[in-house]
Amino acid sequence: MKGIERQGRIYLDGVSGHTPRVPVDVRKLERAAKRAMSREAYAYVAAGAGAGRTLEANRGAFDRVRIVPRMLRDVSTRDSSVELFGRRLESPFMLAPIGVLELAHREADRAVARAAAKENVPMVISNQASTPMEEIAAELGENPRWFQLYWSSSDELVESLVSRAEAIGAEAIAVTLDTTILGWRTRDLEIAYLPFLRGMGIAQYTSDPVFRAMLDEPPPADGDDDLTREQPKPNLRALGTLMSVLRHWPGGALEGLRSGHARAAVERFTQIYSRPSLRWEDLPFLRDRTELPILLKGILHPDDARRAVDEGIDGIVVSNHGGRQVDGSIATFEALPAIAGAVDGRIPILLDSGIRGGADAFKAIALGATAVLVGRPFVYGLAVAGERGVREVLQNLIGEFDLTMGLAGCTSVSEIGPETVTRIE
Ligand SMILES: Cc1cc2nc3c(=O)[nH]c(=O)nc-3n(C[C@H](O)[C@H](O)[C@H](O)COP(=O)(O)O)c2cc1C
Repeated sequence: MKGIERQGRIYLDGVSGHTPRVPVDVRKLERAAKRAMSREAYAYVAAGAGAGRTLEANRGAFDRVRIVPRMLRDVSTRDSSVELFGRRLESPFMLAPIGVLELAHREADRAVARAAAKENVPMVISNQASTPMEEIAAELGENPRWFQLYWSSSDELVESLVSRAEAIGAEAIAVTLDTTILGWRTRDLEIAYLPFLRGMGIAQYTSDPVFRAMLDEPPPADGDDDLTREQPKPNLRALGTLMSVLRHWPGGALEGLRSGHARAAVERFTQIYSRPSLRWEDLPFLRDRTELPILLKGILHPDDARRAVDEGIDGIVVSNHGGRQVDGSIATFEALPAIAGAVDGRIPILLDSGIRGGADAFKAIALGATAVLVGRPFVYGLAVAGERGVREVLQNLIGEFDLTMGLAGCTSVSEIGPETVTRIE
């Protein structure tokens, strides 16, 4: 839906006294989501690493670049589509991979997938989703989907996840590189809360045949990263955690308890979910196993971008994980121009972290991005109003982008170049 239609619908509803249920202003949207979510859920979704300086920097970077609108250019018809890996997308927005969406809404990934399909926005399915990728794909119908991979310490699991992604029609694999170790997340630490230890966000694992087969094997000897090794003291909260772990076991709570698999799954997950030793030399392993385009998510340095191109990678996502990993990191929008220079148009560049409106997407495209990924805003929409909330957030982003483009004097995305913006000191 384009900007004028979106505006028109909202104003028309206003005639009969209705205002949008999902706040249009993204700051109000976040406040509404905070009210709708539990304290733990909101902390997990909203917070950044350390003192939250990267989170602030992501926003501040957009504020220091301003659009310079041009006049008298006939913008009556506009085309906000972009091309990515041979597919034409109606708008430059995609849904970023977000784990543990059940924290926002019980319908989690399913509601998001339905919204994505209705708004024709591609969804990047998370490795840490609350729902098995096959079930998400069923809700997506014909809508484009990618799969986001966390490179497990088990090669067999990586292979299995990638072949499942191919089977559900994923059109690309985005390997997230910035989270081989979990960042220092102050707010989660303060309330001692990590959803995975409650069995949340591990549905891609518990639905995987390779992972399931591991549950009967003895745990690996070098399980230093096993966050569950120390048994918690039995009390009400520990019991609640156990109940949550059992509830999340796909075979049912009783079976999970009897077989010991529900607890074993959480334990095994903490041991193998990531590979901090990952190096450039590992990438051919993935290249040999899939013909799908491979993107590297988390690139922030132009030399890494250049190397990605040299290694035959198909695309990069300039991302700092929404400021959740390194406190005081470069903002993605600050990193973009040098990366765009290094890549020099050879592969597409996507950007996320801090996109809060159509104007931000415009600026990212002006400085070299082909498309952008939206993270928290859609999670907030999900928390406030489920599928409908995600749809409204997407309609607002797409609508604002379309109007910004026209008001800036551009009739197509290809006209959004560096000359359309200016940097202020
Ligand atoms: C609650 C939450 C969970 C996330 N889970 C994942 C994930 O499973 N995989 C991944 O690659 N990125 C994950 N991310 C990072 C997003 O894909 C994206 O990089 C980030 O949210 C973009 O920043 P924004 O939220 O400011 O838009 C997560 C982000 C949040 C907020």
